[in-house]
Amino acid sequence: MAVDAGHEAVGIDALTYAGRSKNLTERPSNLLAFYRYDINVASVVGGILREHQPDAIVHLAAETHVSRSIESREAFLQTNVMGTNVLLEEALTYWLDREAHFFKFVHVSTDEVYGSLSPEEAPWTEVSPYRPNNPYSASKAASDHLALSYHHTYGLPVIVTHSANNYGSRQHPEKFIPTMIRQCMNGEPMTLHGDGQQIRDWLHVDDHCRGLLAVLERGRIGEVYNFGGECERTNEQIARIVWTASWPALKDMWGQNLSWHSPETFNMLKFTADRPGNDRRYAMDISKVRAELGWSPTRKIEESIHDVVCWYLENPNYGEDYGR
Ligand SMILES: NC(=O)c1ccc[n+]([C@@H]2O[C@H](COP(=O)([O-])OP(=O)(O)OC[C@H]3O[C@@H](n4cnc5c(N)ncnc54)[C@H](O)[C@@H]3O)[C@@H](O)[C@H]2O)c1
Repeated sequence: MAVDAGHEAVGIDALTYAGRSKNLTERPSNLLAFYRYDINVASVVGGILREHQPDAIVHLAAETHVSRSIESREAFLQTNVMGTNVLLEEALTYWLDREAHFFKFVHVSTDEVYGSLSPEEAPWTEVSPYRPNNPYSASKAASDHLALSYHHTYGLPVIVTHSANNYGSRQHPEKFIPTMIRQCMNGEPMTLHGDGQQIRDWLHVDDHCRGLLAVLERGRIGEVYNFGGECERTNEQIARIVWTASWPALKDMWGQNLSWHSPETFNMLKFTADRPGNDRRYAMDISKVRAELGWSPTRKIEESIHDVVCWYLENPNYGEDYGR
């Protein structure tokens, strides 16, 4: 999206189990260069900055899957905290050398750093207290504090963003919506943690990217910006939305065998043990980005899920390309 808007971009990604290089090559991306490197390698990061002289860094590289972070925390601390520190350190050296040239370090984070809301509580604003509840959100919270500390202590032009749950095509198969779609395609029950009534706010990835672009172009240094979809849905509602969107294609695929699964007689849910410490509700107040950046979400999941579902149905084996 940044490239479409006329910016030149260079990518660094280690292509861990969660990375897929085809996500870059399947769409016209026109990256100036792509480096398959770990952000923890300071000499590489510094070398790339000196070679390409960027006006901004948008830092998205992270370990992101909450369930994995509950199983094992090491990679989350290494990439999300230590890796962020390497980027900040190298950015600081680079920025100081450039002497007052325009520069921004946009640190991309998550609404999960704010913890969990009850159904009655007001959505989070940029000044809500941090209350991360799992190792993933704790590591992202730590990286947010680190990023802002580089601004306060050294003047590095940092901006921190928090986004609600993203959805779109090409998402790793372990994420919630791709999992729901895959289970539909396989004729398996859609599995939900606990009672399935956890509420998440859903933001289409294109809206998130538009928001990050707005931050790059108009965001104020040292500020925090929250991006949400104003689209709070329970996990069970999402499963039903996915099923309804998948239904016409699945009916063609499976014929009459599927008649008992029609959206009206939906009985494709399976409830499993809840994730330890699972947050109940995430919700974002987006007044600040509306007023300051002129940004608002353009899509509701009920309308945009159709294209997303079609992409997964048309690319059933896309998951095999992860990690390369
Ligand atoms: N997906 C969401 O719903 C969501 C919501 C809010 C915020 N975010 C944030 O947006 C960013 C991107 O999220 P995502 O969902 O695309 O994550 P993802 O897990 O799908 O992808 C992470 C990417 O980072 C790369 N990576 C991981 N460790 C690396 C390292 N040490 N060095 C270089 N590259 C590395 C992986 O190869 C992969 O391409 C993250 O910072 C995440 O916290 C995501």
